[in-house]
Amino acid sequence: TFTPNAFVEEVIADMKAKIGNDKVVLGLSGGVDSTVAAVILNKAIGDNLYCIFVNNGLLRKNEFQNVLDQYKGMGLNVKGVDASQRFYDALAGLDDPEAKRKAIGNAFIEVFDAEAHLLTDVKFLGQGTIYPDVIESVSATGGPSATIKSHHNVGGLPDFMKLQIVEPLRMLFKDEVRRVGATLGIDSELLGRHPFPGPGLAIRILGDITPEKVAILQEVDAVFINGLKEHGLYDKVWQAGAILLPVNSVGVMGDERTYEKVVALRAVESTDGMTADWVHLPYEFLQKISNDIINNVRGVNRVVYDISSKPPATIEWE
Ligand code: XMP
Repeated sequence: TFTPNAFVEEVIADMKAKIGNDKVVLGLSGGVDSTVAAVILNKAIGDNLYCIFVNNGLLRKNEFQNVLDQYKGMGLNVKGVDASQRFYDALAGLDDPEAKRKAIGNAFIEVFDAEAHLLTDVKFLGQGTIYPDVIESVSATGGPSATIKSHHNVGGLPDFMKLQIVEPLRMLFKDEVRRVGATLGIDSELLGRHPFPGPGLAIRILGDITPEKVAILQEVDAVFINGLKEHGLYDKVWQAGAILLPVNSVGVMGDERTYEKVVALRAVESTDGMTADWVHLPYEFLQKISNDIINNVRGVNRVVYDISSKPPATIEWE
């Protein structure tokens, strides 16, 4: 049986032996895997671990600042890089889902490579790869580690790809990573976070991306996610989010006719994301969230709930 304490002791000793006095650079995503990997490496080599947390402008509302503060509070040597505009520029006019993913992946690599170049004498690239990523080899692209994989045969290798790789979680399953994280004293809220795709809100805004659309979706998403938390539903759901549809519908507000955006809410149960069922959220909850969204988020006048399971529907709409 797996004992987190023994694992932690062993992996820290291994990492110390492997890395010695050299430097490691690691991309933090705000997710569980990269965070746990960073805390382990930090325990092993202290400030010789240089973490980079990139804001791609596609994160949840206030997430960049909140998570960055949290990382600093954990004692990680982390640099936050706000590259939002660069990602918006790269996405401008693109509406094909795969083209958007590619633009985001490439922008991430450029930003990360430029940041890694500001450090001198780095020998290793730290990654939060876990066992299912190793066996599948295509972990749904996107977290820093996965993005790197899915792009490493595109054009010339970025310089950081030439670094030696260290992957402290390589042999662990997700639930084991969470247990290790708890042993390390990582905040349970962070460890219990829903999965969030690397391309972020860009694949939940159907069609082309603008900062205005991102801002609308961030508000809608925040109402939904905070509502799930307030009603004790967050931990009963595997993943949840909102989707901004490229559709306007007619509504009425006071005695004005409106013609505004439609959003879809999605909440699924799953164990690994490969299959998923839509969650039967209580009607009263859906009613409240729908009212809160329409009354508080300007530009949205209709809310629908996605009742499709995977397969044949996917979790994300793009
Ligand atoms: P789908 O939509 O394929 O999603 O049913 C399954 C899981 O993978 C996540 N997902 C992604 N994660 N980059 C990522 O890092 C991506 O491009 C991507 N696409 C989907 C999705 O959020 C769900 O957890």
